[in-house]
This record gives sequence, structure tokens and C-alpha cells, in this order.
Amino acid sequence: MDSPRLCICFLFILNFLVSLTTPQPEFRSNLCSDSGNYTTNSTYAKNLNALLSSIPASSDLNSGGFFNSSIGQNPDQVYAIGLCRGDLAVASCRSCLNDSVQAITQECPNEKEAGRWHDNCMLRFSNRNILGSMDDSYVYVGFNVNNQTTPYNNVLEDLLPDLRDQAAAGDVRKYAHGEIQYIGHWTIYALEQCTPDISRLDCKRCLNSSIEDVFTYCTGRYGCSSIKPSCVLRFETYQFFQLVADAPPPPMPQSAPPKSTNTPGMHDVSLSCLNYSTTVIRIKCYGMVVITNA
Ligand SMILES: *[C@@H]1O[C@H](CO)[C@@H](O)[C@H](O)[C@H]1NC(C)=O
Ligand SMILES: *[C@@H]1O[C@H](CO)[C@@H](O)[C@H](O)[C@H]1NC(C)=O
Ligand SMILES: *[C@@H]1O[C@H](CO)[C@@H](O)[C@H](O)[C@H]1NC(C)=O
Ligand SMILES: *[C@@H]1O[C@H](CO)[C@@H](O)[C@H](O)[C@H]1NC(C)=O
Ligand SMILES: *[C@@H]1O[C@H](CO)[C@@H](O)[C@H](O)[C@H]1NC(C)=O
Ligand SMILES: *[C@@H]1O[C@H](CO)[C@@H](O)[C@H](O)[C@H]1NC(C)=O
Ligand SMILES: *[C@@H]1O[C@H](CO)[C@@H](O)[C@H](O)[C@H]1NC(C)=O
Repeated sequence: MDSPRLCICFLFILNFLVSLTTPQPEFRSNLCSDSGNYTTNSTYAKNLNALLSSIPASSDLNSGGFFNSSIGQNPDQVYAIGLCRGDLAVASCRSCLNDSVQAITQECPNEKEAGRWHDNCMLRFSNRNILGSMDDSYVYVGFNVNNQTTPYNNVLEDLLPDLRDQAAAGDVRKYAHGEIQYIGHWTIYALEQCTPDISRLDCKRCLNSSIEDVFTYCTGRYGCSSIKPSCVLRFETYQFFQLVADAPPPPMPQSAPPKSTNTPGMHDVSLSCLNYSTTVIRIKCYGMVVITNA
């Protein structure tokens, strides 16, 4: 209906204190929907609290790090989806979802529908049935503000469709990660993931549009994330996923990629944005574009 609203946020790097530690997984984005409010102590509020508080302990998280469930009767029925990054062990998965459950109701108070995205997990709830249907109506694109000095788009054109097909082919876990070398010794690491309640074809469609986001908004960037309700794509020049669940995080590469003036992760930035219907709090060393279909 409406054409997507586009918000490009301008970045001011305030603090150039650089640390060479691996960037920690971070909060990315909230979407507090304007679809309606519930009142405190209502049946909807009770259903929502019961459903959300059941997520961290759910046995579903043991297989594939995915939670999808519903509670209550129309018009007070609540639906929720939780998904952990595919390489996380169950303890880290539960912990990320637990934190998200605490945060989401504070950040989107009384909203009937909301979503929260973190590098390690995503959480969504709604009074609409959001289970099993692909949703790419909200897009968050975050990118490292540093520019590459060397071209690598051609290797992304090989890696990203390959990971898309691997992720879409998954069953309980629609997740794939991989790496590819360019110019001999520099490496790009990427992951792609869909919520496993959508079909293989819908997963491919969702990730296809994420790949388009990367080529539209992140050409020449050291790192980029495209986050949508049903799928996630991210690439970096360091290994940000774990090869074995819950292994210690790998150290940063000994030398940064060519002509990098600073390293990702440790700069304070402040954002000033045009109007858009999401709240985005603090993003470190990342520029961003948020697109919502209003
Ligand atoms: C819901 O409540 C928030 C404040 O808590 C308010 O800004 C928003 O307009 C309300 N939305 C509706 C649809 O009433
Ligand atoms: C909700 O219920 C609690 C406990 O019964 C009560 O103390 C509180 O005043 C109620 N809040 C509203 C807004 O009705
Ligand atoms: C979940 O979060 C609450 C509040 O932050 C905390 O008290 C509780 O220990 C956490 N549970 C798990 C399993 O992490
Ligand atoms: C990166 O490249 C863009 C477009 O060429 C330019 O506007 C921006 O200032 C560059 N950023 C840095 C940190 O060099
Ligand atoms: C949750 O997703 C699984 C597939 O991962 C599906 O079999 C199940 O029916 C879904 N549950 C609900 C309530 O939609
Ligand atoms: C994904 O994109 C590729 C290449 O652009 C195209 O061939 C394919 O049909 C698309 N798949 C879906 C499911 O949209
Ligand atoms: C932001 O929204 C307000 C109220 O809806 C409007 O008055 C203002 O012009 C908008 N600003 C921009 C930059 O679009």
C-alpha cells in the first residue's frame, strides 16, 4: 500500500577510543507496533505475561532454538515467536530470550504487538496470528561505518546465495554460516537464518530481499546486518559466529583488514533520525537504515 518509508540516520562518531577486543553481541532494534494497546490487568495482559514468561524455560528451545506458541481466546489471544541465532547453545539462547522478555514489555509498554532484535536472538509477539507466515515488512539494516578499500562484492555474490539455499533447506534450524576469501587472504564471514515456521520458498524469498539490502545499502562496508521479522543476514570481516556451540569467542584478527582506520565495536555514536515508527536505542559504530512499510 504505502511505499516504504526510508530513514537514513546520520552518525557522529564522538569517541575514537579504540579497543581491540571482539565486539560483544548487541541489541539492534525494537519495533513497537502502533496496532493497538492493552490495559494493565486485562485478560490480554495476563495472557501475554504468561506466554512470555514461559519462553525461557520452554523445552522447544532444546531443538533448534525456536519457540512458537499461542495462548488465550480471541480477542485476547496472544501469539509469540522466539528464535536464537543458530550457533548458540541452549544456555546462551535461554539467557538472550530471558533478557528480551524482560526488556520488550518495558520498551514497548502496553503494546499489543512488538518485536525485539538482538545479535543473539529475536522475540516477537502479537494479537494477530504471526505463526507460520513470512513477514519482511520491517527491515533494519545496520552497517559498519568504516569503508573497505578493496572490492569484495563478487565474493559476496557467490557466498550469500549459497548460504541462502543452505539455510532454506534446513528443517528445525534454518541456519547457515560460512566464509569466503577474497584477494588471497582477506576473509568475509556471513550467516543467514530464517524462523523455521516458514516454508523453504518463503525463507528463500525473505533472504533474497536481505541479499538485495546488502547490495543496496552496504556496498563497500566492512560489515552489515539485515534484520527482518522472518529472516536475518549478517556479514563481517571477522568471525562473529561460533563454529562449535558455546566455544569461547574467537580473538580479533591479528592485523585489521587493509587501511582500516579503526576497529568495529567500540565507538560511541549518537544518532539523529527522521521520523519513523520504531525506536532504536544506541548502536555502536554502526550506521543504519530503517525501512518500515507503514
Ligand atoms: C498506545 O500507547 C502509547 C503510549 O503508551 C501511545 O503513544 C500510542 O499512541 C497508543 N496507541 C494507540 C493505538 O492507542
Ligand atoms: C492491577 O491489579 C493490581 C493487583 O490486583 C492492583 O494493585 C492494581 O491497582 C491494578 N492496576 C490497575 C491499573 O488496575
Ligand atoms: C531471567 O531474568 C530475570 C530478571 O532479569 C532473572 O532474575 C533470572 O534469573 C533470569 N533467568 C534466567 C534463566 O536467566
Ligand atoms: C565511506 O564511503 C561513503 C561513500 O563513498 C562516504 O560518504 C563516507 O564518508 C565514507 N566513510 C568513511 C568512514 O570513510
Ligand atoms: C511451530 O512451528 C513448528 C515448525 O517449526 C510447527 O510444526 C508447529 O505447528 C508450530 N506451532 C504453532 C503453534 O504454530
Ligand atoms: C531469489 O533470487 C534469485 C536470483 O535473483 C532468483 O533466481 C530466485 O528465483 C529467487 N528466489 C525466490 C524464492 O524469490
Ligand atoms: C515528523 O512528524 C511530525 C508529526 O507527525 C511532523 O510535524 C514533522 O514534520 C515530521 N518531521 C519530518 C522530518 O518528517
